Amino acid sequence: AAVQYYDWTVAYTYASPDCVEKLVMAVNGEVPGPRIDATEGDTIVVNLTNHLPTEGVVIHWHGMHQVGTPYYDGTASVSQCTINSGETFTYSFIVDRAGTYFWHGHFGMQRTAGLYGSIIVQLPDSQKEPFDYDDEASVLLSDWWHKSIYEQQLGLDSIPFRFVGEPQSLLIEGRGKYNCALDPGSNGASPSCLPCNASNPECAYHVIPVEHGKTYRLRIASITSLSSLNFVLEGHNLTVVTIDGRYIEPVVVENLDIYSGQSYSVLFTADQDQSRNYWAGINVRGRVPNTTTGLAVLQYLPNSTDLQLPPSKPPGSPAWDDFDYSLAQARLYKVKPGYEKPVPQSAGRTLILLNTQNKINGHIKWAINNVSFVFPPTPFLAAFKLKLKNAFSPIAPPDLPPNKPDFNIFALPNPNDPSEINANFGSSPYVFKLGEIVDVIVQNANTLNPNNSEIHPWHLHGHDFWILGYGKGKFDPQNDPQSFNLADPPLRNTVAVFPYGWVAIRFVANNPGVWPFHCHIESHFYMGMGVIFAEGIHKLPSLPTETLGCGLTKPRH
Ligand code: C2O
Ligand code: CU
Repeated sequence: AAVQYYDWTVAYTYASPDCVEKLVMAVNGEVPGPRIDATEGDTIVVNLTNHLPTEGVVIHWHGMHQVGTPYYDGTASVSQCTINSGETFTYSFIVDRAGTYFWHGHFGMQRTAGLYGSIIVQLPDSQKEPFDYDDEASVLLSDWWHKSIYEQQLGLDSIPFRFVGEPQSLLIEGRGKYNCALDPGSNGASPSCLPCNASNPECAYHVIPVEHGKTYRLRIASITSLSSLNFVLEGHNLTVVTIDGRYIEPVVVENLDIYSGQSYSVLFTADQDQSRNYWAGINVRGRVPNTTTGLAVLQYLPNSTDLQLPPSKPPGSPAWDDFDYSLAQARLYKVKPGYEKPVPQSAGRTLILLNTQNKINGHIKWAINNVSFVFPPTPFLAAFKLKLKNAFSPIAPPDLPPNKPDFNIFALPNPNDPSEINANFGSSPYVFKLGEIVDVIVQNANTLNPNNSEIHPWHLHGHDFWILGYGKGKFDPQNDPQSFNLADPPLRNTVAVFPYGWVAIRFVANNPGVWPFHCHIESHFYMGMGVIFAEGIHKLPSLPTETLGCGLTKPRH
């Protein structure tokens, strides 16, 4: 296995991801940032220097398990102090599993500012994937706003609440085209829209070149801030073979739902009319869409070097609110027998995490079992390792929704019951014994708006988990576990809980560290939608010598 060294500098730069020039948080001036190409078992060393003038930064390596290296997980307030302006921090970790992953900022809403890139991990030459293909390509999907993240964050914190709203554009490999006609009052002529008409090379569509008759592995990953997406490759079916780097029994789909934090490998054969090109498109799911289809071009070679756009309309997706479609597709995925460890048949501890929208002092927040997560000034890992008292409350958060046995997930919170309307801030972790088998039921509910419940893609750091089942309505602890799939559940690191539904996952708490489990919608995590899992804390490795100080660890550096 090789050791790969990278020197990265984070700074704002001018860029036009969707033809409209904005400030973008870039690495080495690139947007999206540099792609890491590695082989399973490689060590990645990233020397990260912060050139943002006034704020700290961290980078998280999404899907990497960080076994033995929890201090390099790159999560502010959890694994490390932020790297301040002018400071350098060196991440060093092993890419322990082949697959399609990504890296991104994990402080405030820096991911939304454009701080992300791909991590593609190949199997060593001596090993072969359990499927065949001639060549491969990858697309990283994202959504894009014209408002700065500072304005977005302030809106989320304000009374009255100002939501970030639907994205201006959807991007494929960092490229999109803003629909200037949507710009209120501009009729396509507002100054911010002028670059749309210019021959700006940054406005070009991303192109996926293919040769007729060949079969391709397309790696699709979503790093969206808000949007759930449906990916369509016009004229071509997709055979799904991996999810979040894990093998599944191949299934054929016409279009692919993908939630923020997830990745897929799909196979397709370029067997269509080679005299023309085809669209790859992404559409918003699960929210009333107000963003035009994000597009890239599937180019049949040797079509002319001047890119011919497909003659067809941008491809459509199932109705945005066809949640039965999404649920049915999610249930298609089953582990490929013999390729992954079997699921333990029972759990030692079960958490039921009720997701609610609440108010705290009039501010709108998300809460889990009535606790809205706040990011503490001292990172949890250092607090545990150095046995710092007062870094967080010693009172454990509730395993079950407190005082809410009769909580009606379909109704608005009762305005006369403060325990339903109000939540509390909190930042104490769930602590697991090393090796404990943990079930987590994520239970969705109505928001503070009538007849509204949203999709939340829940992501776990440091682990992959088995998805034991999805259900509609309120989880029934007596009967629903009998329907769990304990035969061939899929493994992954991010799973969506659908509106008014639940999802059940299982994992083994065998990776000493402190690992966030949170909604991957960046504004939702910012508003408190996450919890902290700590496990094997007596087995934590020593703090790296170059550990940065902050909070109660300040005097140490
Ligand atoms: Cu990709 Cu904690 O996130
Ligand atoms: Cu969410």
